[in-house]
Amino acid sequence: MSSHDTDWVDALAADDLPQDDVIGVQVAGRDIAIYTAGDAVYATDNTCTHGHARLCDGFLEGHEIECPLHQGKFDVRDGRPTCAPADAPLRCYPVRVEGRRVLLRIG
Ligand code: FES
Repeated sequence: MSSHDTDWVDALAADDLPQDDVIGVQVAGRDIAIYTAGDAVYATDNTCTHGHARLCDGFLEGHEIECPLHQGKFDVRDGRPTCAPADAPLRCYPVRVEGRRVLLRIG
């Protein structure tokens, strides 16, 4: 294992991933939203950049998450805001599925 590998943190069981939906998890003291779109898995901060809303309570359509509070939207692939009032990007985290576990790179 290289030192680079130690940056990866176990987040949840692959079996617990929702299908084409979002789930909130606590990883290394952070509130993270994990999304699935087809076979792809993405992760961002779970708190909307516009206010204090949890994106895991929002609505995922394709690669776009709609905030439950003011309906701002973000592209979960790169965190960029796609609909006002959201105007600041979400932090994204690299994801990999290894065996039956989902790992995130935090740091
Ligand atoms: Fe998310 Fe306002 S809190 S759009």
